[in-house]
Amino acid sequence: MPHADSSLVPADITTKPAFYAHIHAALLSLLEGHRFWVSNLAQAASLLYHAFAGSALYGLDGPGAPVVNWAGFYIHPPSTASASTVPAKPLVLGPYHGRPACITITPTAGRGVCADAFVKAEGIVVSDVEAYPGHIACDGDTRSEIVVPLRMGGRVVGVLDLDSVRPAMFDDDDLRGLQGVVRILDGASDWA
Ligand code: SME
Repeated sequence: MPHADSSLVPADITTKPAFYAHIHAALLSLLEGHRFWVSNLAQAASLLYHAFAGSALYGLDGPGAPVVNWAGFYIHPPSTASASTVPAKPLVLGPYHGRPACITITPTAGRGVCADAFVKAEGIVVSDVEAYPGHIACDGDTRSEIVVPLRMGGRVVGVLDLDSVRPAMFDDDDLRGLQGVVRILDGASDWA
């Protein structure tokens, strides 16, 4: 099967658990034999963005306008410096699909959804981004968001972030499904 076809979602997938089961299988297949974390995160971002856009559950908001308008990663680069002597390194933009986004995010509680999910090391579902204290608006069209910590080798090394142009697009099924995505990435990638 051509790689691009991995992101095609059968029309009979009409529940989120079935959607994510399909995504997990497609991701495992795409990553087989490849352990470089940058390539694997890039494949995951592309797979998610295109599968969401092509699915019956999420789909398009208009021609060329996916309901899930951004899917990608912010990464916390490894550092050997002592946290007490240097300012905290920012989260930096990693592989993604969607419009251009902010490149750095301060990893401090209260500085946006990604920062909060990273600092707390837990997933966050935001049904209304405008009501979320500190939310960073990379795209004014975004109405809801979900962020999941990216764990690799037992450490939180960044976050997986998805945005939607519709309010309350994401729920606990998305949280579980995306936690499954990051578990697959952890098992399939070398973080170095
Ligand atoms: N909204 C995020 C910033 C990243 S963009 O959504 C791609 C936040 O509040 O952290």
